[in-house]
Amino acid sequence: MATNVDYRYYDRLRQRRLKPGECIFTEGDRGDYAYIIDQGSVEIFTTLEDQLYVLSVLEPGAIFGELALVDGRTRSASARALTDTLLTLVTREQVDERIQSADPILRMLLFVVLGYLRMESTHFRRRNSPNFSIGLRERTDLLPRISQAVDLIRMESELQSAIRDGELKLVYQPILHLASNTVVGFEALTRWYSPSRGLVPPSIFMPLAECTSLIIPVGEWVVKTAFEAMRQMEQVTGNTPFISLNIANRQIEEPGLTDYLVNQAQCYGIPRQRIKLEILERTLMDSELTPRWMEECRQLGFPLTLDDFGTGYSSLGYLNQYQFDTLKLDKSFVQELEDNASSRSICKAIIDLSHALGMTVVAEGIEQATQGELLADMGCSYGQGYFYAKPLSLGQAIEFLQEHQPSPHGVS
Ligand code: CMP
Ligand code: MG
Repeated sequence: MATNVDYRYYDRLRQRRLKPGECIFTEGDRGDYAYIIDQGSVEIFTTLEDQLYVLSVLEPGAIFGELALVDGRTRSASARALTDTLLTLVTREQVDERIQSADPILRMLLFVVLGYLRMESTHFRRRNSPNFSIGLRERTDLLPRISQAVDLIRMESELQSAIRDGELKLVYQPILHLASNTVVGFEALTRWYSPSRGLVPPSIFMPLAECTSLIIPVGEWVVKTAFEAMRQMEQVTGNTPFISLNIANRQIEEPGLTDYLVNQAQCYGIPRQRIKLEILERTLMDSELTPRWMEECRQLGFPLTLDDFGTGYSSLGYLNQYQFDTLKLDKSFVQELEDNASSRSICKAIIDLSHALGMTVVAEGIEQATQGELLADMGCSYGQGYFYAKPLSLGQAIEFLQEHQPSPHGVS
């Protein structure tokens, strides 16, 4: 189908033509673009006490202006065209998105390296101008970056030994049938109690585990521990709640997770339909392997849950395209239910749509009785949140299960 997009317009936007001597940017300017030289040549220079120092002359294929674009600070030098020059512009969005999605340690190290580069240019100025004195600020700016990078690297090594030394704990947050106030399952959540750092928030250590292969041993430990917990729950209470496991992008990309799940489920004697796998919307978007992995899980009989629905892209198309067993309605909707009529309408629409597509809905983050009642009135069958229970140790989870026994006729 023909489109009306005029690509020449975009090309003009993305390129800039300059005459010899024309200024591209000046030291100290804000930096909104980096540039790639397509034709011509560019001089990078700095001026000190009216004296011009040429730092570099760049030819086609070179990139410049990347420093301010990446570290968000001002231009470290000036740039001008030496001949007729054609430049391609690199936008902030092109760079930002990549930096944000990069490995956090790599990102920190990048800022450290850029910091050193800037310090070098400060030293250059100091060498050439005795009155020049901004070096101290440059250094103090850099110190937090260095310590963050060093700390992340240190934490990564500590996490390796944490798995071995039993510093990870699994906790279980009950998922209830709202109308009957009975437990149907538990979401398994990982906690790290570090002897030196105390309780490390999962928002810190899980991304770290995810961007390294550490997520694989952590994930396997979670599976084994959760299955052992299910076995104990069943032995003690005679009940068979399901377990919901959070699966990270990286676990899907590495082969072997489904084989491991199948083997361990068999080993612990747990039917696969009681093992629910939660993935985030982000995982659907980020990994090309996800659809195939989901299909494999479906064929093997592991129910799939779409986690935190409503926080990300929230495409209704995904609901249609991928078959989920359960949708988890994000807590941000739930928390606005009482005060916000449009939140109520959105919740109701999502619940109805999910049911129409054959999915059950679990509302997350229920903190008050009224929220649970409103959701139940809207037709939402299941929920979890502090109002019912915080994530519990295995012993507490067993007690909670005994106090909130599922009905003998069962709700699935
Ligand atoms: P930025 O600081 O955004 O703007 C000036 C650019 O000049 C900088 O990014 C680098 O791309 C480049 N630059 C800075 N210092 C030097 C140098 N010493 N040699 C070569 N290029 C430099
Ligand atoms: Mg979850």
